[in-house]
Amino acid sequence: LRRIEDADVHGKRVLVRVDFNVPMKDGVVTDATRLMAALPTITWLKREKAKVILLAHFGRPKGQRVPDASLAPVAPALADLMASPVEFAADCFGPEAEAAVQALQPGGVLLLENTRYHAGEEANDPDFAAALAKLGDIYVNDAFSAAHRAHGSTAGVAALLPAYAGLAMQRELDHIGQALNDPRRPVIAIVGGAKVSTKIALLENLVSKVDKLFVGGAMANTFLAAQGHNVGKSLYEADFADTAKAIMEAARTHGCELILPRDLVCAAEFAPNPDTQTVPADAIPANMMALDAGPETVDALADAIDACQTLIWNGPLGAFETPPFETSTVEAAKYAGQRCREGKLIAVAGGGDTVAALNQAGVSGDFTFISTAGGAFLEWMEGKTLPGVEAVTE
Ligand code: 3PG
Repeated sequence: LRRIEDADVHGKRVLVRVDFNVPMKDGVVTDATRLMAALPTITWLKREKAKVILLAHFGRPKGQRVPDASLAPVAPALADLMASPVEFAADCFGPEAEAAVQALQPGGVLLLENTRYHAGEEANDPDFAAALAKLGDIYVNDAFSAAHRAHGSTAGVAALLPAYAGLAMQRELDHIGQALNDPRRPVIAIVGGAKVSTKIALLENLVSKVDKLFVGGAMANTFLAAQGHNVGKSLYEADFADTAKAIMEAARTHGCELILPRDLVCAAEFAPNPDTQTVPADAIPANMMALDAGPETVDALADAIDACQTLIWNGPLGAFETPPFETSTVEAAKYAGQRCREGKLIAVAGGGDTVAALNQAGVSGDFTFISTAGGAFLEWMEGKTLPGVEAVTE
């Protein structure tokens, strides 16, 4: 990895790819986690008297100048966090962007408009990349969560300028890289979520790397069905029974203990606070659906966590947005958080709903590291090379 600390940025125009794809409501940033993540790099560059030019995408406007995909509201939010000015240019290249860059003083910060307003971004068009490169002397990628995209601002421009990894990108790679490739053993992975079909590559890679793999969420129903159990009205993917069997077989081959729920909290329908029944995992009633893991499962999971020194977590263990089906996710997360506080566990988490689930459990601060990434976290854990990481690697 080429690290930003090794670059001479003094007085230079530094193009920094950040991920400001943040939750926004009525033009107000509602969760500043990704802005906070970018602060160390921005602050470092300011101190080094670089001219900081921030590049980012927002939403999926598909090359159209859609007003509600503007990054304009992010500039004041970032300025508030830093307690110093952030300029904004209404395009990411061309005369307006060039003038704004020209006006920037050393230590100044400029945010450019949504790169995805131009089709050249997602197409990784060489002319688009060249137009971006014109604005900078040095390129820094600090957007691990967008590094799975081979776009103009993550890959194209990186090939045209000296390219480095920012501090947030380094932090992500250091933590999740260690958890997956050089962990304190034994390692347990907890993978939840609705569908096996979206996590096949993840499960395949994990069984070859970790010592224990717990499969939870509706995904587990597909495994239970593959084992020949009746899953009643539960969500499951009949077409992926063979995939589930192959993953169980691969786990055996690699000596990875695959753990499924022992008991399940079921209801007749998926609605908030319905009547529930907790049953053994192999005895889901025909007229009910599994919506959360039960207390025996949480106990078994706690024992498995006790036996391990590293935890990799992706996905909820039940339908956690709908009460009371957050219970097992919250309990297991609290237990893992407590082990981290005691210094007995290194826990990293990321991907999709995971952060929301851990926030709900109130344990985000206890985990060793929580990735800002959704899809990029998954692809990294699948063992894939991410274009945005490759571009800043020796
Ligand atoms: C994310 O929010 O995970 C990243 O910003 C990537 O966004 P994308 O899935 O629209 O490329």
